[in-house]
Amino acid sequence: MHKIKRMSKVTTLNEFILDNQADFPFATGELSRILNDITVASKIVSRDVRKAGLVDHILGAQGETNIQGEDQQKLDVVADQQFIKAFENGGEVCGIASEENDDFVAFTSESAKQGKYVVLFDPLDGSSNIDVNVSIGTIFSIYRRVSEVGTLATLEDMLQPGTAQVAAGYVLYGSSTMLVYTTGKGVNGFTLDPSIGEFCLSHPNMRMPESGRIYAMNEGNIDICEPGIKAYTQYCQSFDNDKGAPYSGRYIGSLVADFHRNMIKGGIYIYPDTTTSPEGRLRLLYECNPLAFIAEQAGGLATTGRKRILDIKPERLHQRVPYFIGSKNMVEKVMSLLIEHGK
Ligand code: AHG
Ligand code: MN
Ligand code: MN
Repeated sequence: MHKIKRMSKVTTLNEFILDNQADFPFATGELSRILNDITVASKIVSRDVRKAGLVDHILGAQGETNIQGEDQQKLDVVADQQFIKAFENGGEVCGIASEENDDFVAFTSESAKQGKYVVLFDPLDGSSNIDVNVSIGTIFSIYRRVSEVGTLATLEDMLQPGTAQVAAGYVLYGSSTMLVYTTGKGVNGFTLDPSIGEFCLSHPNMRMPESGRIYAMNEGNIDICEPGIKAYTQYCQSFDNDKGAPYSGRYIGSLVADFHRNMIKGGIYIYPDTTTSPEGRLRLLYECNPLAFIAEQAGGLATTGRKRILDIKPERLHQRVPYFIGSKNMVEKVMSLLIEHGK
């Protein structure tokens, strides 16, 4: 006799979004539609990312003209356009700001002006890794507009503190494509099954371990950082740390990928201010705030080394901040060393 193996039920992202719609403070279905637009755009970008090597080495390099006489665009521009198109046509979003555009974009159609939300995003994070076939990502952040519905989106809509986010997430184009997001009720992760083209719930209720033994920073910068950073890396490398053995250093150079690994295994990602980048490198609105929201929702922490990222009132669209994000105990440890060693 054959034993029938019971299959566990597959929950697709669309199903999950609908099932959890009621958790959202403004349960109207609009946010669900934006999340749905994001999943469609990210599937398209995922497909393009998977073809990137072919485009560069067989079909002609990006930035060149292809055989049909069309310009091959850089993947970060392709991704940017894909997401903008999804939001512009979706009808829920009145404007966007993205790392790839100097200014924010206020959508001008009548239906877009009725949209209640703005989306801020980094269309392709870790773009220096595209050419070498290493993981890259997309990061997004959704806010309610503060300007009047029916008018054009304004700069004030974009410059809200991270605490005002209603949802945030990232897509990781890694060995699999994953989408991880929060609406302020915990964090859930979905893996794209390429054979059916659906994101399926694979990481329900993600929690970041309170401590870990992985640290990620560009240590080439160590001598241009404040002294507390060196003190922390020495702590990581010592036998006298909380683990009684040196941690592992891991730096992919794609924030999304480094962050995602730390979410699962426990760890810290550091990009401090340096003498050459006195404000740090990462952008508050497109990178730091969305991942900070996710980290906190998963039990982690995100600070500038001195204060909470989500409390910062942004002054400029492309503002940069020093960034310390990851397992709670690790972020607290480095913060205490920064204070001890001073600027
Ligand atoms: P982007 O590709 O969107 O410009 O972001 C790159 C960011 C981040 O993903 C990465 O961790 C960091 O910059 C790498 O910077 P360094 O090369 O200075 O280490
Ligand atoms: Mn980036
Ligand atoms: Mn980018």
